[in-house]
Amino acid sequence: MEDASCTIRRAVPADAAQLTDLAARTFRDTFEADNRPEDMADHLARSYSPARQLSELTSPDIVTLLATYDGPTAFAQLRRGRPPACVTSAETIELWRFDVDKDWHGRGIAKDLMRAVLDEAAAAGASAVWLGVWERNPRAIAFYRKFGFADVGAHAFLLGADVQTDRIMVRSFGATADGRRSKGDS
Ligand SMILES: CC(C)(COP(=O)(O)OP(=O)(O)OC[C@H]1O[C@@H](n2cnc3c(N)ncnc32)[C@H](O)[C@@H]1OP(=O)(O)O)[C@@H](O)C(=O)NCCC(=O)NCCS
Repeated sequence: MEDASCTIRRAVPADAAQLTDLAARTFRDTFEADNRPEDMADHLARSYSPARQLSELTSPDIVTLLATYDGPTAFAQLRRGRPPACVTSAETIELWRFDVDKDWHGRGIAKDLMRAVLDEAAAAGASAVWLGVWERNPRAIAFYRKFGFADVGAHAFLLGADVQTDRIMVRSFGATADGRRSKGDS
């Protein structure tokens, strides 16, 4: 399948319903084969509803980027908050969610979206982006490695009643005084 180009923009409150659909669908597509139905159902019910996504879209601590191509195809969310102890950089931001619709895997949208995420993080004054990724998600881990994320530790992630291990990965970059990334950053 040929590479596709898409439009990436900051999501707004009016996107809540379609963000809910996209986020729940990508989560189900990615994880339902390897998890108990009751754990999936619990997580989906807790995490995705138009009201919940609306509160994320209006939160001052969360930036949501939405990629569209004849409809929503991918999204990313950056979240401010305290990182786990294994993340030692000074100014960090969490890449909380990063999901591409399965029909668009391997077609370049994830790379475009990651570049937009790194630009957004740099503009926010971060010197590093960190994330948690399930240890049993090798495709995502391979993708993050391609973008310079390195494994620095682990933390627990509760999916329903199942305590899972997420690898913690960090991608540092030298932010200049005006918020641009240093030469050499991808
Ligand atoms: C993770 C994700 C964003 C990556 O986007 P993508 O378009 O699939 O990424 P790419 O194809 O550019 O890169 C994935 C890499 O993993 C490799 N890969 C694919 N399956 C793999 C596997 N089972 N094990 C290891 N590597 C794998 C690919 O070959 C590719 O590497 P390459 O470019 O060197 O060939 C996308 O797959 C996705 O949204 N997945 C579902 C949601 C998800 O897991 N989100 C992350 C949550 S933390």
